[in-house]
Amino acid sequence: MSEEQKLQEFEKRIEAGDVIEPKDWMPEKYRKQLIRMMSQHAHSEYVGMLPEGNWITRAPSLRRKMTLLAKVQDEAGHGLYIYSATETLGADRHDLIQQLLNGTAKYSSIFNYPTLTWADIGTIGWLVDGAAIVNQTMLAKCSYGPYSRAMIRICKEENFHKKQGYEIIANLANGTEAQKKMAQDSINRWWWPSLMMFGPPDKDSPNSAELMKWKVKLKSNDELRQRFVDLTVPQAKAVNLTIPDPDLKFNEKAGHWEFGEINWDEFWQVVKGYGPMNKERMKVRNDAHDNGTWVREAALAYTKKREKLN
Ligand code: 3HC
Repeated sequence: MSEEQKLQEFEKRIEAGDVIEPKDWMPEKYRKQLIRMMSQHAHSEYVGMLPEGNWITRAPSLRRKMTLLAKVQDEAGHGLYIYSATETLGADRHDLIQQLLNGTAKYSSIFNYPTLTWADIGTIGWLVDGAAIVNQTMLAKCSYGPYSRAMIRICKEENFHKKQGYEIIANLANGTEAQKKMAQDSINRWWWPSLMMFGPPDKDSPNSAELMKWKVKLKSNDELRQRFVDLTVPQAKAVNLTIPDPDLKFNEKAGHWEFGEINWDEFWQVVKGYGPMNKERMKVRNDAHDNGTWVREAALAYTKKREKLN
């Protein structure tokens, strides 16, 4: 069968809603797109632990500390699932980690913002994990088997993340004046960066057309962003918090919340490495990697010794 015929067969399978498995024939570009997207997703999970880890020692109660610890551990696990899923495409995990550490690979822009107050931990769970759920429930139906299956378990855990975050925010929003102010200040700082998580507008998205053709993306960046806004605005209203967007208004006819213009200059600045915390996040990641060298060496020495004995 010629390459052209194989491509036609592949596209017929995608059209029919088949799930593509690692050993199946796939166009090189499909493989490359998946490695790019999945590795950056895994990087995001890893770097995403840093803003939250910052508050584990400062959680206001033992219950909040245990919940935050569990969430951060979940994120590490999500990173491992998705790196493992990326390896099924022939990618080498060490190469992927090096790309993160040397700054050549991207991770989600959202994690380059600082967590200034405890309310930010609630907002991250509610908005950031809430956005992740919207994106990842779509990916749970994508055409690549290992990725879609990894998403099924991850989405279950994200739902816990979102619930615990919204509970923190609801408690603060119903608390003292100072707590209400803390919650509102937090949503003011995290609302727009959360909308940016879904990527640039469809018209500026170089990857979306191919990813949608091959059913890796089943919805576009703008469609998912709109879904997130429609889900989240009523949740903010339920706890008497104000979304920091003077242009927000409900369009009865369309059945959607219309929102203001996103600051795409800020988005691209953060993506290019000039966000508030980019340098700090990379330094902490590199320091952790360097400080963990002895652990990797010890594990490798042990494995080699075990192999000799067997
Ligand atoms: N942050 C950083 N880079 C981003 C970005 C963001 N929020 N949105 C887009 N980009 C980058 C893309 O990577 C691409 O650059 P590249 O070609 O060099 O990789 C460029 O901007 C153009 O964007 P596109 O829309 O063309 O890129 P995609 O089609 O890949 O769409 C995406 C971007 C929607 C993030 C898509 O990659 C995706 O759905 N990825 C899987 C989910 C994911 O990575 N989520 C990140 C958050 S993880 C998380 O939330 C953890 C949770 O536990 C809290």
